[in-house]
Amino acid sequence: MTDTAAIRFPEGFLWGAATSAYQIEGAVDEDGRGPSIWDTQCHSTNLVRDGHSGDVAVDHYHRMEDDVAMMASLGLGAYRFSVAWPRIQPVGSGPANQAGLDFYSRLVDRLLAAGIQPALTLYHWDLPQALEDAGGWPARDTAYRFADYAAIVFEALHDRVPMWATLNEPWCSALLGYADSAHAPGHTNPHEATRAIHHLNLAHGLAVKAMCDIDSGPQHGIVLNLQPIHAVGPDPDGVVAEGVRRLDGLRNRAWTEPIFGAQYPADVVEDLEAFGGLPVEEGDLDIVAQPLDWLGINYYCDDFLQSRPGGTIPHAPGLRDAGEVDPGEAVTDMGWPITPDGLRALMVGLEETYPDLPPIYITENGCAYDDPVVDGACPDPRRIAYLDAHLRSVRAAIDAGVDVRGYFEWSLMDNFEWSHGYHQRFGMVHIDYDTLVRTPRDSAWWYRDVIARNGLTRTATVSSG
Ligand code: GCO
Repeated sequence: MTDTAAIRFPEGFLWGAATSAYQIEGAVDEDGRGPSIWDTQCHSTNLVRDGHSGDVAVDHYHRMEDDVAMMASLGLGAYRFSVAWPRIQPVGSGPANQAGLDFYSRLVDRLLAAGIQPALTLYHWDLPQALEDAGGWPARDTAYRFADYAAIVFEALHDRVPMWATLNEPWCSALLGYADSAHAPGHTNPHEATRAIHHLNLAHGLAVKAMCDIDSGPQHGIVLNLQPIHAVGPDPDGVVAEGVRRLDGLRNRAWTEPIFGAQYPADVVEDLEAFGGLPVEEGDLDIVAQPLDWLGINYYCDDFLQSRPGGTIPHAPGLRDAGEVDPGEAVTDMGWPITPDGLRALMVGLEETYPDLPPIYITENGCAYDDPVVDGACPDPRRIAYLDAHLRSVRAAIDAGVDVRGYFEWSLMDNFEWSHGYHQRFGMVHIDYDTLVRTPRDSAWWYRDVIARNGLTRTATVSSG
């Protein structure tokens, strides 16, 4: 570790862990749940490694009480989870499925009884398949269906859940889902992705409005995966710089500008003209730019582009031709570089761009390392080093004047990592996929100590459970 000073976080700093519904719940056919686009992606395409699916996942649906008890034993102050839309509205519209609401109601009650603050995300990518069949996010109507769904869940839980997020990483839903095929529904159609960008922003705004009409007391936010993107090396033709501009536009500014500035960046609008243009109607941008109580940032690493022979400017939206830098050896199992200072720089830059930015929560940060259980223990020093470095970066942002209120580690436990299936392990708790036994890794006990002292010691010491 390069920086070993002891540091503390502001009083009241919220310490949590995060998961999402399809990645952990399983029980895909139970209690009236309808199919989602991820069930289809897993069962009707070959886009998920080894044919893995979330059918069982880590069986959280049946083990919820034990999982909450485990969270309490790890000292968590908060838990970020998502609600599966197809459990609440099996076909994405119409009346609520009471059994679906009851599951999340029981979860919330358990968390509160354990002294753990619930932080609810309404959409973590599991669109009801019936809505995809009707056009999915490229269809404007999906935004209105999302607002109806948000109001149903909010009506049921707003008395007990203080922190609400509309969408998780809408960039992934739009670009990976419709342009890149890595995510459901697995399309490669940039025209669709362009329409999806705007309809996701619109859905967010409509949902916040619908919820605030019921009760403006709870804290409303959105979770974005913002990412600094850098040009590296010689760039005589300006190809790399142009690639950085385009990727930054789609990854970051296509979300922050409408949400915090009620407009799309002119260069992004222009880039997307080639793909039919953003389908903005009169009044939409005022709806998108609802006042928010917080912004959630999911951060894993910075991105780097370099020139490569024959490389061309990445065309919007998204497919990258400029060439990614070989990140060398200091990567996680995902192949992602380890760039902790990027988190500080990202937040400081946001504050400079948007002086009225609401308080920030780091809603995801973490790393995949496949450290096994040996004799009942699971040492994972690389994860501890990663987390230590990123928490120091958060503290540095606070020192620079950024209002950061909390941090959620991704993830509470190993789970279904989308197109990677179960091959990537992000958990502070190890899962044995044969037995579904949960074993906290050393980093979980380390994190418990961080939470207890509201800070880091001089060195990343590890106690055992
Ligand atoms: C994400 C996700 C998680 C992933 C994590 C690791 O929001 O990208 O919320 O579902 O599992 O990011 O890739």
